[in-house]
Amino acid sequence: MAHGWNSSEYEQAAAIAVAALLDYVAQSEAGEGPAVSAPPVSELSGELQLRRLLRDGGLTLDSFEPWLQKLLAHTTRLHHPGELAHQVAVPDVPAALADLLHGAINQPTSIYEMGAATGAIEAAVIEWMTERVGWSTGAGGVLTHGGSLANLTALLAARAAAAPDAWRDGVPSGLAVLAPPSAHYSIKRSVAMLGLGESALIPLEVDELERIVPERLEPTLERVYADGLRPMALVAAACATSTGLHDDLEAVGRFCREREIWFHADAAHGASALLSPGHRPLLRGIEQADSVIWDAHKMLRTSSVCAAVLLRDERRLEAAFHQQAAYLFYGDRDDGSGPDLLGRQVECTKAPLGLKVFLNLAFRGESGLGEFVRAQYDKTQRFFELIEAREGFECLCRPESNILCFRHGDDSELQVELRERLLAEGRFHLSSTEVNGKRWLRMAVMAPATDQSTIEALLDAIERLGTGAQRGLHDPARQA
Ligand SMILES: Cc1ncc(COP(=O)(O)O)c(C=O)c1O
Repeated sequence: MAHGWNSSEYEQAAAIAVAALLDYVAQSEAGEGPAVSAPPVSELSGELQLRRLLRDGGLTLDSFEPWLQKLLAHTTRLHHPGELAHQVAVPDVPAALADLLHGAINQPTSIYEMGAATGAIEAAVIEWMTERVGWSTGAGGVLTHGGSLANLTALLAARAAAAPDAWRDGVPSGLAVLAPPSAHYSIKRSVAMLGLGESALIPLEVDELERIVPERLEPTLERVYADGLRPMALVAAACATSTGLHDDLEAVGRFCREREIWFHADAAHGASALLSPGHRPLLRGIEQADSVIWDAHKMLRTSSVCAAVLLRDERRLEAAFHQQAAYLFYGDRDDGSGPDLLGRQVECTKAPLGLKVFLNLAFRGESGLGEFVRAQYDKTQRFFELIEAREGFECLCRPESNILCFRHGDDSELQVELRERLLAEGRFHLSSTEVNGKRWLRMAVMAPATDQSTIEALLDAIERLGTGAQRGLHDPARQA
């Protein structure tokens, strides 16, 4: 069988990969190697022999190991304590096993008969998520390839509720989506992709920390009506990507219910805090939402990608899509055998995303995952105190999650320069963000290995780089 599965190759190659990954993760957790290595693409292309291998093949079991080592050397080491840049999960072992299984069994979890076990798992994961949000019968949802797609799907359902004929006839004019300016960019993108036009996004009034001001919802809505617009949805964040702060979902939810507006809670990052009893109150009011998104590939420790779009009334998700495909659907397949998901998702072929969430839950328990969230959130509180106590540093505010904004001095350009210099050294990887017109350094504390000593070393490095960075900024040659 020339093209069959080569068991011996699989066994040997997997053993090589597992051994290399064991070293990689152990070194990363110990803070060895750079947190991030991103040489110019032309250099990497050469080092990894990409053009030659793509065209001619030739990788063998003997050459695989050294090649893999070169690949691993130029990764962003998520397990590394100094990797603090983005909300990307540090995968846990059970989720990594799910990816291994998927690589061999390849179950496209869209049509039940094409992957019954993984289809049943996705249904169970969705049911569990809707319960955690606080919904009971009638709720439902679907897993998607990422939070951006989940936001698009939620807003598509909102569009179907506001304009049921839009699928056939196109979008009527005058629909509006209300969201804080700090909403994740996928909201604006979705509004544009759904045919409303970007200008249909109406900014909600926010405070100095970019959180929705519930008392100002009414005047904004009055203005929307006065302009002849019709609200299709109102979006709140739990938590905001930039600051890690939560909108008051309870107040926003009450307002939306009273005014009969579709309430969409973007809880891509924060929904996992529902599993930590001490942090659940941050999400108070989420159960009032019509739709919620929840990324497992942020705080539920799955690899990218794995997200969910959840609806309080799942019939509204079914109503979002009106697609026909004769080779896939025929007659009424609602025979109780198992769910076909094509009628509620953008994707046709879809990975068995639920398997990653399920295995993490099955091995660690809900309390284990909740304990992870608690640990990361609590650590971030300690880091806040540490940074505030250091002269020359300040934080934007006390964090509510594991996202923390801080700065050295108050020069916005300096923060950018410091981040670049840290990145060039490779030991620490931060992001930066703008809040209320000022630039801040930003950390997302995702790695279990990040501790107080990491942050002390980070602050030392920033102090050391600070003088040079300041001089660099004022270098006349640079400014010319
Ligand atoms: C609040 C929020 N919503 C949506 C997204 C988009 O999710 P994804 O990156 O999975 O597409 C993000 C990503 O960081 C986010 O923070």
